[in-house]
Amino acid sequence: MLNFFLLISLCWGLVLGESLTEFLNEANHNLALAYDQEVLAQLQHEIQGPNDLVALLQIEIANERLMKYINYLNNKGKKFKKIEVENLKQRRLLSMLPQLGYEALTGMELRRIYSLSANMSESYKNVKLCAYENRKNCTLSLIPDVQTIVQESKNIDEIEYYWYEWRRSTGLSTRSQFVEFMELYKKTARLNGYLQAEDYWFRGLELNGVETLKILDGFMAALRPLFLQFHAHVRGSLRKMYGERLIPKGRPYPQHLSEIFIGNAFRRVQAEWFVDLPAPNVGLFNITEALQRRGWTTTQRVFWNVAEYFRGIGLPQLESSLWTFAQPMSYQEEDHCFHKAWRFYALRQINFTYCPLNDEERFFNMFEAQSDVHFFRATAEQPTLLQEEPFPHFSDAIGKCFSLAATSPRYLHKIGLIRESKWFELPARLNRLYIQGLRVIFLLPVFYVLDRYRVEALSGHIKADDNEAYWRLTEFYTGAAAPKRRTNADFDVPAKLLMEVDDQYASQIFSTVLQFQLLKHFCSRTGQDRPLDLCDLSDQSGLGPGLRRTMALGSSQHYSHVLQKLLGETELNIDGLLSYFQPLHNWLVQQNRLNNLDVGWA
Ligand SMILES: *[C@@H]1O[C@H](CO)[C@@H](O)[C@H](O)[C@H]1NC(C)=O
Ligand SMILES: *[C@@H]1O[C@H](CO)[C@@H](O)[C@H](O)[C@H]1NC(C)=O
Ligand SMILES: *[C@@H]1O[C@H](CO)[C@@H](O)[C@H](O)[C@H]1NC(C)=O
Ligand SMILES: *[C@@H]1O[C@H](CO)[C@@H](O)[C@H](O)[C@H]1NC(C)=O
Ligand SMILES: *[C@@H]1O[C@H](CO)[C@@H](O)[C@H](O)[C@H]1NC(C)=O
Ligand SMILES: *[C@@H]1O[C@H](CO)[C@@H](O)[C@H](O)[C@H]1NC(C)=O
Repeated sequence: MLNFFLLISLCWGLVLGESLTEFLNEANHNLALAYDQEVLAQLQHEIQGPNDLVALLQIEIANERLMKYINYLNNKGKKFKKIEVENLKQRRLLSMLPQLGYEALTGMELRRIYSLSANMSESYKNVKLCAYENRKNCTLSLIPDVQTIVQESKNIDEIEYYWYEWRRSTGLSTRSQFVEFMELYKKTARLNGYLQAEDYWFRGLELNGVETLKILDGFMAALRPLFLQFHAHVRGSLRKMYGERLIPKGRPYPQHLSEIFIGNAFRRVQAEWFVDLPAPNVGLFNITEALQRRGWTTTQRVFWNVAEYFRGIGLPQLESSLWTFAQPMSYQEEDHCFHKAWRFYALRQINFTYCPLNDEERFFNMFEAQSDVHFFRATAEQPTLLQEEPFPHFSDAIGKCFSLAATSPRYLHKIGLIRESKWFELPARLNRLYIQGLRVIFLLPVFYVLDRYRVEALSGHIKADDNEAYWRLTEFYTGAAAPKRRTNADFDVPAKLLMEVDDQYASQIFSTVLQFQLLKHFCSRTGQDRPLDLCDLSDQSGLGPGLRRTMALGSSQHYSHVLQKLLGETELNIDGLLSYFQPLHNWLVQQNRLNNLDVGWA
């Protein structure tokens, strides 16, 4: 009797095993086709520009087809998910089937959640504010109109006026939509098989909510000493500009003024005029100008120079057809024009679109875009289901690690972009670290708060529109406060969600941490016993092969295994970032002491 059942279950297992293999093969094959259609449509959209309706229609058709197929896969995959699959590879493939996401909702609710999230991101584009100077003139868009006015304004009342209006029109007006969205999000999580909505929030990391927050909390705690010193310094600069009444001692600085100051680090034009550089008379080297002087004035030229960089670190040479088929991107807003690699799955090709602008930002962006090319190439060995990144923005971290190494004066000197030795000396290095620090160090706590708030709301610790809880987190982690105390009669969360309401930021934090961790690792592996901002990775041909092998893993393993192979450690570690900014940290401590500045806030 027993044997009989054993036999039956063995046979059944065999049958299922066979059809599981078929199912997975079919999924890999058909997904590749469906993805390609979507990538092609997106690529056309990018080349033709946002006004090309045919491309938009193609995107919609491809998306619909893909969602239908994913729906089919999920239904069919259910029966396999119930059985114990012994083959590890197959188990991994099965777990990597794309999830339904919102499509698990039905009818009304599905339409509702799409319209809510579209509405909330659209509100950014459609909202019009009335001008401070003339309240009857209500034609100002948030970006770029209000943003530009505020950045250039010296009138504190005007800046404050726009801060409040921005929040009233994006936050308060979408409050009920935000609350409803979060409810539907929880339901989406359940329908996708997650008992805790916060686990679903972090699904891309393959960690649950508790694990992710523990890691993020660790980062925030380790970053804190550097952040407090930098915050104190910026607060001191703001106090010089606005006086002690507006910037009191021992208190968070007002967000509407600090954001303008920190935002200056992202503005290309004459950045040194606006921020309090450590050595203002030394300034920053102008790479845009150097590129022109050096004759790197076409994107093609930059493309091949950067390709040579990657060949020099031991990655495969790019073939010339990649450039032959590269397409210039149409661009309306210069800020959104970036080089980009496009990966096709079934077609087994990569296409490249480029931004014809040739400035500093596009130069370093080329390193990131080509790093993606190498990533896509390497993962092509994997079945479609395993060709993704170990976590979102993982490939970004690799690209940004090399673009960061390329900002090293050693490299820039080597390729003839800078000549003078003063750029190697501490004052100039501090200036660069200061600008980079404004961009990196102040952003991480903001990202943290946005995820933490939404996760607390999803897990039911706070209500979805608990504005006071939002400000408690904001004050504690970012050291910034509203110009006047905000209450639960206001709602300010959506005002900060610049992209999509369901964008998860933890993976961006992970990616930033990894970027510096990689740099530290590569620099020590190449025997560069010097400050990280002086480390140059060019021509370190020993790096490529190992890097390529780990890229080739795609999403076939959990990121901790990938890190193990890449770095010899399984955890992300923020020490790289802290080491990179150590010279700045030392300088900040010394300056704050010298100027008797208050550190921290209550
Ligand atoms: C299809 O479009 C919907 C709505 O815009 C979006 O949420 C979803 O992510 C898209 N699906 C894919 C696979 O791109
Ligand atoms: C596991 O599955 C993979 C993919 O279907 C197959 O190539 C491999 O031979 C299987 N391994 C074993 C031990 O059955
Ligand atoms: C989207 O916004 C419009 C106007 O702002 C509003 O009338 C509509 O009800 C909103 N949709 C949802 C689903 O809330
Ligand atoms: C409205 O105000 C903005 C900003 O002050 C200004 O640029 C624009 O010309 C004004 N429009 C009208 C119609 O007055
Ligand atoms: C750098 O040089 C470019 C080209 O000469 C110029 O347009 C830009 O204003 C300069 N930037 C700074 C910060 O001086
Ligand atoms: C993409 O590249 C392939 C060659 O790899 C080329 O045949 C094709 O025309 C390119 N597509 C576009 C839209 O540029």
